[in-house]
Amino acid sequence: MSKRVHIESYGCQMNFSDSEIVASILAKDGYTLVDKAEEADLVLLNTCSIRDKAEQTVLNRIDGLNHLKGRNPDLRVGVLGCMAERMREDLLEKKKLVDLVVGPDAYRTLPTLLDEVEGGQKAVNVLLSREETYAEIEPVRLGSNGVTAFVTIMRGCDNMCAFCVVPFTRGRERSRDPDTIVDECRQLVAQGYREVTLLGQNVDSYRWNVDGRGAVKDPTVPVTDFADLLERVAGVSPLLRVRYSTSHPKDMTDKVLAVMARHPNICKYIHLPVQSGSSAVLQRMNRGYDRAWYLARIAAIRRHMPDCAISTDLITGFCGETEEEHRDTLSLMEAVRYDMAYMFKYSERPRTLAARKYADDVPDDVKGRRLQEVIDLQMKHAGERNRRHVGQVQEVLIEGVSKRSEAHLFGRNSQNAVVIVARHHAGTELKPGDLVLARIVSGTSGSLQGEVTEVVARRPEAMAVAP
Ligand code: 5AD
Ligand code: SF4
Repeated sequence: MSKRVHIESYGCQMNFSDSEIVASILAKDGYTLVDKAEEADLVLLNTCSIRDKAEQTVLNRIDGLNHLKGRNPDLRVGVLGCMAERMREDLLEKKKLVDLVVGPDAYRTLPTLLDEVEGGQKAVNVLLSREETYAEIEPVRLGSNGVTAFVTIMRGCDNMCAFCVVPFTRGRERSRDPDTIVDECRQLVAQGYREVTLLGQNVDSYRWNVDGRGAVKDPTVPVTDFADLLERVAGVSPLLRVRYSTSHPKDMTDKVLAVMARHPNICKYIHLPVQSGSSAVLQRMNRGYDRAWYLARIAAIRRHMPDCAISTDLITGFCGETEEEHRDTLSLMEAVRYDMAYMFKYSERPRTLAARKYADDVPDDVKGRRLQEVIDLQMKHAGERNRRHVGQVQEVLIEGVSKRSEAHLFGRNSQNAVVIVARHHAGTELKPGDLVLARIVSGTSGSLQGEVTEVVARRPEAMAVAP
């Protein structure tokens, strides 16, 4: 009988994408994927270390799984991803919480490590790599709607933001061979997928065929930067929508904005984390830009694409943040008016620059109060921004059934706003993967209501790919 594995992913999109690579490696090793931990011989948690809370969630889940082991002594539990790097000792050696610990660059060694685990040993590999991109591994799409997929284009991060643990958990930055990225997108199209999101910690640093000092490696191969890659992926099929995440304000080029503006199938949505509106805080965060630079990038986006949606990440209560510096964040939000934002209280992470250099000196209740102010303002802006769509006729890619009502489907417009439409249009039932035109009739801060005016393209079993 084949062995059964259950994989759970926590944290960012990159982790969900990595789990699909892990699933592929394990499928080749004879494992069958199952939906429930209760049905599995092996449970793998792909973990996140970005904030203390993320780690606590996983530690609680490990507790739960260790209870499950009481009922099923043959069950094995493994930790993958960022916590593997950060907490190997605690997980495996000191507290013996799990059987297996594997870092983000070591997934190819899973079959060997699992042999050791089956023999009753504990197994570990947390080596980081300068080369590993899993370039040619064909991911097994997990929990997929068959419509949208993630494609990882680079791994790691060289930026060293003072608050961030990622450079320690995911190692040095490296880009994936563009030919393998384009191939993966073509295959997705052939399987009926209609949208890809290109993923990287900092996609603007994507660079193929140059070495660490910027010199060309192989003169017979073209140098590919992120704008070039984006253009190649957009050329795979006019019916494939392209998104990407995440941009870095210090590296986002006008060349990328021009490519986005030129291609209707590249979605008009940019996630551009600002973190703080205060230049002094940004400097302590080691972000490499100040408030004026950031606002100039926003102006550049709006110049190239007046209808582009912009979202951000914000941290409240970073080391030394004064009330005035906090108000700078609120005023920057007023200046930009984000469509969407992910907002967090600062959480000190061991080994980071901030942990070594600055005191985590903003009291928790102050962090919390500032966070609430930021959230309240964002809610107001999101409502305003969403209402600007009302009256427009927009392309919406249907992704699934609405959570609230079986009679409705949900999809997204180019700006990444969720649009709810009726399931039936002119006597036909719409399905995930259909591309429709919808008139937006109302909007809240969370979603838009649309009325379908036309079906642009039904989800084909397979689509033609440009040669
Ligand atoms: N504390 C709080 N938020 C953090 N982020 C990253 N590190 C921390 C931290 N130590 C946030 C940043 C980043 C997002 C992915 O998570 O806003 O952009
Ligand atoms: Fe979490 Fe960052 Fe790791 Fe993603 S890269 S899983 S956000 S710590």
